[in-house]
Amino acid sequence: MTSVQDAKASPSPGSSAPSGGPGAGGGADEVVLEAIGLTKHFPVRRKLRDLFTRTHNAVHAVDDVNLTLRRGRVVALVGESGSGKSTVARLLAQLYPRTGGDIRLHGASTRVKGGRAFRAYASRVQMIFQDPFASLNPIHTIRYHLTRALRIHHNDGGDLDAALADLLTRVSLTPPERYLDKFPHELSGGQRQRVAIARALGARPEALLADEPVSMLDVSIRLGVLNLLRDLKERLNLAILYITHDIASARYFADETLVMYAGRMVEGGDSETVTQTPAHPYTRLLIDSAPDPDRLTGDVDPLEEDRGNGEPPSLIHPPTGCRFHPRCPAAMPRCSTDLPVRVEIGDRPGHWAACWLYDNAEVAK
Ligand SMILES: Nc1ncnc2c1ncn2[C@@H]1O[C@H](COP(=O)(O)OP(=O)(O)OP(=O)(O)O)[C@@H](O)[C@H]1O
Ligand SMILES: [Mg+2]
Repeated sequence: MTSVQDAKASPSPGSSAPSGGPGAGGGADEVVLEAIGLTKHFPVRRKLRDLFTRTHNAVHAVDDVNLTLRRGRVVALVGESGSGKSTVARLLAQLYPRTGGDIRLHGASTRVKGGRAFRAYASRVQMIFQDPFASLNPIHTIRYHLTRALRIHHNDGGDLDAALADLLTRVSLTPPERYLDKFPHELSGGQRQRVAIARALGARPEALLADEPVSMLDVSIRLGVLNLLRDLKERLNLAILYITHDIASARYFADETLVMYAGRMVEGGDSETVTQTPAHPYTRLLIDSAPDPDRLTGDVDPLEEDRGNGEPPSLIHPPTGCRFHPRCPAAMPRCSTDLPVRVEIGDRPGHWAACWLYDNAEVAK
C-alpha cells in the first residue's frame, strides 16, 4: 500500500497557480481513480437475541464494485434509491473505511483515515453533495468558504483576492465582488451549488465525485449546472463521477454509464449504448420508467412489468443469485441461485451486463 504522497504524480507546469490545477496536466484518458472489487458492509446494531445466537447482521450496501475514472471523462453511476451509489462515492472519497477491495489513485493502493493524509487525498479527489445548502455553513460568507478551501489545500501564499475572483469566474458567478460577501441564504439554489463547485475547485482536484449534484435544483437550472460541470471537465481535464437517479441525464452528460442495483453493478458501457440499447432487465426497467423521446425502439423488448411491485430488496439478507431476480420478468431458475458474471454484449466494445440472459450456454438451450 502506498501513501497519498507517494501516489502523487509530478505536478503539472503552473499547478501552483490557483486557476491551473493538477487536472490541467496529464494526458486525456489517463486513469486517475479506480475501484477494484470495492465492498462495504455496514454492521447492524445487535439485538440481545443476536448475542446468544452469534448473528452478525450487516447491510450489504456495496459488493464487488469496479469502476475507473479517467481524466477528461464523466462516468455516470445510475440506480434507484438505496442501491449504494452514495456509499460508492463516500468510499472513493475515503469518508468511510471499506470492508473489502481496493481504491487506487494513479495505480497506487490508497487507504487514508483523517489527518494530513486525508487532506492530501481530498485535495486530489473532491466531493460535491446533493444539497448545497447543507454543505455550506450558513453563518459564513462565500469569501470564507472559498478562502478556507484554498488555504487548507494549498497554503502557497499567492494573491488571495485574485484566486477568489478566479474561482467564482470559473463557475460563472460574475462579477465576483457581487457574491464574495454574501451568505449562502442570500443566493439561489443554483448559485449555491456553483459556490460548492467553486469550493471543490479550490482544492485543485483531479477527480470530482458529484453525488446527485442537480437533483435538488429546479428543473430549469439543472442543465446550466451540468453544462458548467462539463465545461470544467474539458477545461481542467477533470475526471468526474456523476451520480444520478436520472438515466436520461446520464446519456446527455456522461461518456460512460454504470448501472447499479442493490449494491452490485449490473450493466456498463458507453452512455449512448447503455441508454439506447440497454441489455440488463433492470436497466430496461429504469429506462422504461424515464421516458426518452429519442429512444430507439424495436430492438429492445419492452418489459412487461416489475414483478416485485417496485420494492427494492433487503440488503441485510440480499436475494441469492442475481439480486434483481425477484423483480425480473425474464428470471430463469438459475438466476435465483447463481451470481451472474459480466458478459460482453453485442458489437459495442466495452458494453457488458451481469445477466444470465446473455450467457452463451443459456442462449444455446
Ligand atoms: N452509515 C450507514 N449505516 C448503515 N447503513 C447505511 C449507511 N449508509 C447507507 N446505508 C445503507 O446502505 C444502502 C445504500 O445506501 P446509499 O445511500 O449508498 O444509497 P443511494 O443509492 O445513494 O440512495 P439514494 O438514491 O437514496 O441517495 C441503503 O440500504 C442504506 O440504508
Ligand atoms: Mg445517495
